[in-house]
Amino acid sequence: MTEPKKLILNLFEMNTVSHITHGLWTLPGNNRHRFNDISYWLELAQILEHGGFDGIFLADVVGAYDVFRGGPETAIREGLQIPSNDPLLVIPAMAAVTERLGFGVTFSTSYEPPFAFARRMSTLDHLTHGRVGWNIVTSYLPNAARNFGLAEEIPHDRRYAIADEFLDVVYKLWEGSWDDGAVIADAAGKTYTDPSKVRYIDHVGENFRVAGPHLSQPSPQRTPVLYQATGSPAGIAFAGRHAELVFTGGRTTADFVQNAERMTDAAARHGRTADDLKFIVQAGVVVGRTEEEASDKWRTYREQSSLDGILAHSGFPFDPTVFPRETLVRDALAQAGIPEKAVPTAAPDTTIGQLIDGIAGGREGRFFVAGTPRVVADEIERWLDEDGIDGINLRQYHSFDTARDFAELVVPELRARGRLLEGGPTLRERLFGRGPRLPENHIATRYRGGANLTVPVPPLFG
Ligand SMILES: Cc1cc2nc3c(=O)[nH]c(=O)nc-3n(C[C@H](O)[C@H](O)[C@H](O)COP(=O)(O)O)c2cc1C
Repeated sequence: MTEPKKLILNLFEMNTVSHITHGLWTLPGNNRHRFNDISYWLELAQILEHGGFDGIFLADVVGAYDVFRGGPETAIREGLQIPSNDPLLVIPAMAAVTERLGFGVTFSTSYEPPFAFARRMSTLDHLTHGRVGWNIVTSYLPNAARNFGLAEEIPHDRRYAIADEFLDVVYKLWEGSWDDGAVIADAAGKTYTDPSKVRYIDHVGENFRVAGPHLSQPSPQRTPVLYQATGSPAGIAFAGRHAELVFTGGRTTADFVQNAERMTDAAARHGRTADDLKFIVQAGVVVGRTEEEASDKWRTYREQSSLDGILAHSGFPFDPTVFPRETLVRDALAQAGIPEKAVPTAAPDTTIGQLIDGIAGGREGRFFVAGTPRVVADEIERWLDEDGIDGINLRQYHSFDTARDFAELVVPELRARGRLLEGGPTLRERLFGRGPRLPENHIATRYRGGANLTVPVPPLFG
């Protein structure tokens, strides 16, 4: 009999008050306001480690949400990703109190050059003994661009072209600049590192010039595990070349399967196989000891949810809350001076009330379940076996109840069904069941041993 497919289990987090479940920080007992305090991260990491989670995944943005209502006030009032702190800096604290929890962390390729970031990630990979992953993003907030000296965002596909070169630089540093065994720490010979095994990378490209050598010696994984979230053609081409875990989704099973196929095809174009790519979806799970307990919790969460937060997060182009519910969307858009095509999600002949109800109620999507541990585990097995996902990023409605409930009620059920991963010690070994380093068919490995450092990679597209 073949082994059942195992679930990659991550908690979705952000070093902020309100990440994606807006309004819920106000729930009794919610710890979200403690995110500035190191004790928050220590407590959370221990819950996850002992609760059977594989990783914590930290989102990040480098600007404020200031499109909705023409300014950042709504986001600021809501605690919507502002205030927010640097995600990298909480990782060593969590690593110190755990042994196998993985850390996926978001960093943007659009604004800060690659050399210092490569060093920071190598440092983290050393300090965690090989438990870090990088969520590669190109950033999407107009305000982020203005924080880094640009008048406006770099166009979408151009951001991916820059990201592709950014990756080329960090691969040279992580994989090519130092050989294994370079550090010999030979006290008698007075040689810490053998200089013949360390080299410049001399990268000269369209966007970056980096001499090297890399300042960190090789870490357990060298290149951190590579994550990416995308759906666009440029992003899929990028994922095909680089990503090991892709966040994707879909409103139906067929949608998800089609998205996954596109990614797998893109990976095949780079000589990679279906085993080299895993798919993670964001999932909502509300579990109770009884159906009633689960539905009570879910009702409370929904009642407390903030429409303003949702609208500001999506950068909604007009404010539907100022119109009477029975107003037609078409009339509201006309009054707000917004062309109908600017709001593709709002059918012009529906009412503002219908629009608002859809926005407030329609966010949970395909990968959501509320119920007893058995119902939840059945549904997760369906996601694994019928949709074909490899893992979830668990959305938090309440910190720490969401993680604790999942750990106490769902994890034992999944474990009994043989659905949880084991192994490690590095994150890559745990997720892929093979070595700590990238496999030979990944483009980054072309630089091993200092090969190909000045041979350009073919452009990703165009
Ligand atoms: C689960 C998930 C998590 C994401 N986390 C972040 C994040 O932390 N920071 C960020 O700038 N973008 C984040 N994004 C947005 C993606 O980086 C990307 O902009 C989005 O998926 C659109 O990609 P595309 O333009 O290639 O289709 C996330 C997307 C998803 C689906």
